[in-house]
Amino acid sequence: MTKNTSLFWSGLLKVGPALLLAFLLAPWSKLEAQSGPTFTADVAPILFETCVSCHNPNGIGPMPLLSYDEVRPWARRISLKVQAREMPPWHLDLTTGIQDYKNDISLTDEQIATIVTWVESGSPEGDPAALPPLPEFSDGSDWRMAEQLGPPDFVMKAPPYTIAANAQDQWWVRNTTFEGVIDEPRYVRATELKGTYPLGVRVLHHGHAMLSSQSADGQRASGPIGRQGVGKAGDRFPDGTGMLIYPSGEINWNLHYFPIDEEVRSERAEAAVWLYPRGYEPEFATRGEQFFAADTGPGGLWAQDLLLPPNSIKSQQGVRVLNQPALITSFRPHMHMRGSAQSLEAVYPDGRREMLARVDKYNHVWQIAYEFEDGVAPLLPKGTSLVITTTWDNTEDNPNNPDHRQWVVFGQRGVDEMSHTWLGITYLSDDQFEHMVAERRRSMSAPKAGP
Ligand code: HEC
Repeated sequence: MTKNTSLFWSGLLKVGPALLLAFLLAPWSKLEAQSGPTFTADVAPILFETCVSCHNPNGIGPMPLLSYDEVRPWARRISLKVQAREMPPWHLDLTTGIQDYKNDISLTDEQIATIVTWVESGSPEGDPAALPPLPEFSDGSDWRMAEQLGPPDFVMKAPPYTIAANAQDQWWVRNTTFEGVIDEPRYVRATELKGTYPLGVRVLHHGHAMLSSQSADGQRASGPIGRQGVGKAGDRFPDGTGMLIYPSGEINWNLHYFPIDEEVRSERAEAAVWLYPRGYEPEFATRGEQFFAADTGPGGLWAQDLLLPPNSIKSQQGVRVLNQPALITSFRPHMHMRGSAQSLEAVYPDGRREMLARVDKYNHVWQIAYEFEDGVAPLLPKGTSLVITTTWDNTEDNPNNPDHRQWVVFGQRGVDEMSHTWLGITYLSDDQFEHMVAERRRSMSAPKAGP
């Protein structure tokens, strides 16, 4: 017994430290296994909500992210992209300007932290039973606006164009007539433009369809019946706002294609239009998104202004004075591969200056229209100056720069440069402006609901 006892003690002495360590670690490691993020319980819900609408087999994302096996090889890259806030595509400067948008798809800091911690702890799968169901997503064959508005009232098609498999990007412009589609002046409520499913959807990078129309008695109107870019399908005007069109006219198609290593034969882009009911007169008339960059003409900062030396960073500004009060509903910066930032500021008639919105992670692949939330959409008095500042980065540090040793001038190709902004803008009468300002004051001073 004595022998046994001493054996027991000497044995315990040998394994003691290990036991002690195990004892100390056990509850902790168990706790960690329980609380550390896993794919099925913590990461998949974020990806399903925010990423798979594009990252699915038919989507515009380069790889599907529907299952653990599909996501696992991309884990580190996903962590980098979400930390840089390059994915999901939402490239606003979060430190300045308005931050409330209708179409905000950005992740919260907490969601980013979950993904980063998950990747740092070895990207565990977790309990398969915890996996949420896959959401339904569009394959690009249907109109997105149809979800809210039903089928469009009419669809116009561009003439056919064949896009070569391997070629430079192609910019293609044609006119078609607009006759016999509507029989009286009507107000447009929403528009959407896309390539034809499936290949056309992938090859169209961005495009515009501008309708110039006139009435029997010679009244004229012009505006977009389709404005698309990667990340943006169309425009829906705020309720009570419409764009007038007349029965007879011409559509100017302006389509920019990026070849996809596969020939796309006789592609015909399509523009869909949703109308307000017959006889309906909206309170606010808009001409759709408008070009607004500099006073140098339609096209903004033109060739003579734009010269980027090799390995340089350069900014340019354009100013436009509003000669009528206006409500700005959306902001879409447009530059090419060297574009890195663009901002929209207001200088009020009393001299106050305000940053309205700024994009600081610009990437030409994306043509996102940032749609201001109703309560904060800039409401600007007559005489306000809109200041648009563009910055190009033609250095090696710009990951989108194809060659920092080149001089770059104005042009249509992606390797040339340009700078403009599409604004969703509704001009207001003085009365409408006063009324909207008063309404905003009222809603701001109203007591908050809740305890
Ligand atoms: C609106 C469509 C869209 C959404 C939403 C989206 N992506 Fe992407 N993603 C793309 C496209 C297109 C690319 C390729 C172009 C680019 O990198 O900008 C891309 C690229 C990426 C890449 C880089 C791939 C590579 O080759 O290096 C990663 C990683 C990524 N996405 C992850 C995500 C994650 C994670 C989310 C959600 C949190 C997400 N994406 C949301 C469309 C999207």
